[in-house]
Amino acid sequence: MRKGFLAVGTVGLLALGSLTACGDDSSNEPGGSDKTPKIGVILPDSKSSVRWESADRKFLKEAFDAAGVESDIQNAQGDKNAFQTIADQMITSGVTVLMIVNLDSGTGKAVLDKAKSQGVATIDYDRLTLGGSAEYYVSFDNVAVGKLQGEGLVKCLTDAKVEKPAIAYLNGSPTDNNATLFKEGYDSVLKPKFDAGEYTQVADDSVPDWDNAQAATIFEQQLTKASGKIDGVLSANDGLGNAAISVLKKNNLNGKVPVTGQDADPQALQNILAGDQCMTVYKAVKKEADAAAELAIGLAKGQRKETGQTVKDPDTGRDVPSVLLTPAAIYKENVKDVIADGYVTKDQICKDEFAKLCTDAGIS
Ligand code: BGC
Repeated sequence: MRKGFLAVGTVGLLALGSLTACGDDSSNEPGGSDKTPKIGVILPDSKSSVRWESADRKFLKEAFDAAGVESDIQNAQGDKNAFQTIADQMITSGVTVLMIVNLDSGTGKAVLDKAKSQGVATIDYDRLTLGGSAEYYVSFDNVAVGKLQGEGLVKCLTDAKVEKPAIAYLNGSPTDNNATLFKEGYDSVLKPKFDAGEYTQVADDSVPDWDNAQAATIFEQQLTKASGKIDGVLSANDGLGNAAISVLKKNNLNGKVPVTGQDADPQALQNILAGDQCMTVYKAVKKEADAAAELAIGLAKGQRKETGQTVKDPDTGRDVPSVLLTPAAIYKENVKDVIADGYVTKDQICKDEFAKLCTDAGIS
């Protein structure tokens, strides 16, 4: 895996609505004010996480509609050729701003550069395109996400009083810069424990394209190689975590081996209530979508807004104006917060056998 992690420019986090307009309409800006604003968004897939279709699409559309700005939100379904074709079609159809969640930095960069050459302004949404040329990067503090996962695993193992736990890593896609950042975060918590001999690391594998089916196969192999002795799973997101849980279930180990996650998927929240998953990381996607939409609408109108923060692209050294939001750790006790925030509904989580577990967890 490549080194040279992304550095977070400043710590200060952007409060919503605090983006300040800087400079006024200059029609020389990419996406400038002489064209009717229209924003294109390309989402990566609908399998690596349910968030893209169930949260990002919805919140972005709501934000554009509320501002009365035309938008076209499409999903590349994990296909890099389709990604490029969608981008070409959007540019031809006259989008003034293009927002992408890249499938990898190489193809992402090609799309960003092409858009730029046609006068279309661009935004990296959630994933930074290394070596790219986007005007903005809008995401969460992804090292902080990983740190919460590492701390979560330590908390669950400590609560369960596991001595010298054997840990397996299920990392995200090697082509997603976020996966590198998540790992940087959880390594910062767990590596000192491996080095001190308090914990042992028995597996460290990346899951190509965050593919949940491959994750189950990989985890099965990890478990076999460790002769069934895995005491904790650092899984980089909920889909991978659920894959590990499905294998643990087959081996009657679910509930005994803490598993981490990310995204607060409905399924993961149920896994947490059932005691099969230790924790997840909730990222308030509405805030991410709102911040990105605000910047995009600004660009579409020829305004460049200050974000007050930059992130250094490790490939080029470029300081990319950024918005990095704060993630939150979710355990059984605060699953209710995700519902209260409107990210998922009580009905989605608390049906059938989960009704009682919800009541027990204070979800009313
Ligand atoms: C996102 C995660 C998501 C993963 C798989 C990452 O880049 O930040 O929220 O679970 O991709 O789609």
